[in-house]
Amino acid sequence: MGIQITPSILNADLSRLADEVARIPSADWVHVDVMDNHFVPNLTLGLPVIEALSKHASQPIDVHLMIEDADRWAPAYAEAGCGSVTFHAEAAKAPVRLAREIRAQGSRASMALKPATPIEPYEALLPELDMLLIMTVEPGFGGQKFLDLCLPKIRTARELMRKHGVETWLQVDGGVSLETIERCAEAGADVFVAGSAVYSADDPDAMVRELKATAEAASA
Ligand code: DX5
Ligand code: ZN
Repeated sequence: MGIQITPSILNADLSRLADEVARIPSADWVHVDVMDNHFVPNLTLGLPVIEALSKHASQPIDVHLMIEDADRWAPAYAEAGCGSVTFHAEAAKAPVRLAREIRAQGSRASMALKPATPIEPYEALLPELDMLLIMTVEPGFGGQKFLDLCLPKIRTARELMRKHGVETWLQVDGGVSLETIERCAEAGADVFVAGSAVYSADDPDAMVRELKATAEAASA
């Protein structure tokens, strides 16, 4: 599939979501962060807003659920037509069943790991997943500093995917910018969430293209 950029709208102007998404035509996906004030200390938006936004976005929605009880709530996002649904390993009681439910609705199933959660215990799950998200900040807020300590986990995840012969995408989220994206791409990431880097740029779409070109050069 190659390198993909999925800008997070968390730091966009939330009062004008459709307009903000229209500013990034070069993006491959639109990353939407759902937070419940329990799994993370922040509250954002949920299904009704995503349903409304998806009618106006030309790209598919890449929803990142930072919520407790993912088993209960995640399938509805797949049913609503999100192209990719990410739940957190730390919030899922039955991740295999949940991934299968998401896929059964026609969405890509993805699982996220917080910075302190290792990949090794989840190795056997990789064939059940279309994407693995490795958080490169503690989830909850945009604009945080990239955590270099997550790079070895990206490398390990990529090696495990090769070992199992799976085509799982490897996404990174948190502090991704022109300064940090090369390190992630070199380590094996191929899907890049960027929030503040894109929406604080004078030309968000030019930033999307620049991020993509930089990651492509680093992964080549
Ligand atoms: C943080 C969210 C991210 C956030 C990224 O918990 O999952 O998607 O919006 O923002 P930046 O790119 O500014 O770190
Ligand atoms: Zn996110």
